Amino acid sequence: MNKKPIVAGNWKMNKVPSETKIYTDTILDLVGHVKSVSVILAPPFTGLFEMSVEPPFYSAAQNCHWEDSGAFTGEISINMIKDLSISYIIVGHSERRQIFNESNDWINKKVRSIITNDLKVILCVGETSNERKSGETEIVIKNQIEKGLKSISDISNVIIAYEPVWAIGTGDTASAKQIEAAHSFIRNTVRDNYDKRNDIHILYGGSVNSTNAKELIQINGVDGFLIGGASLDANSFASIIKIVDLV
Ligand code: PGA
Repeated sequence: MNKKPIVAGNWKMNKVPSETKIYTDTILDLVGHVKSVSVILAPPFTGLFEMSVEPPFYSAAQNCHWEDSGAFTGEISINMIKDLSISYIIVGHSERRQIFNESNDWINKKVRSIITNDLKVILCVGETSNERKSGETEIVIKNQIEKGLKSISDISNVIIAYEPVWAIGTGDTASAKQIEAAHSFIRNTVRDNYDKRNDIHILYGGSVNSTNAKELIQINGVDGFLIGGASLDANSFASIIKIVDLV
């Protein structure tokens, strides 16, 4: 791999704020010395106040609204996130798309606003099990990328996470062949729409754990991971960080 890999932990709606500090202290004790990997921790919004880390550790929000302020009850703006010195925002996670009905249009508004605010975005894409079975994987991914990145001219602050929906939280990791094919397709789609030499990070997500991480990180085109379940336990997340640091 010719760029520094990224290991990102998406806590989803888990851990109260007081657990955040204990978790972060444990991670820094275990792997605070790593040099060859960037680590991103995405607690719920309430946990972000308790998280203070320095590179190569970063914190991330799991969502945002695209407007700076206004009458949007229950929403959090990018301004608010930026004021906490947070550098990354995850957008378009399949749970947001499916449970909260987020459209590619909304996702694009978020991505545009994040880029305008000079933050980095982790844009999640991936097909459902039915879409894969009916041979639509590439159509779905292309659509999510092209609509998600519409009107964005500079994608240097964009990271794409390939997360097949059927592999998320199921223990059913995609095969090396499926991952390599999807990552290569994503890379080519990005290159077709931007610079041919474009080399943004493409992460894999979907049942990554400390047992399969070593094999998965060696797949051609995998620049790191977006991890849900296995990021919740500091020891298991630290083992994955160590594995990626050594690759
Ligand atoms: P998982 O979740 O690692 O629990 O499969 C990944 C994700 O939702 O980002």
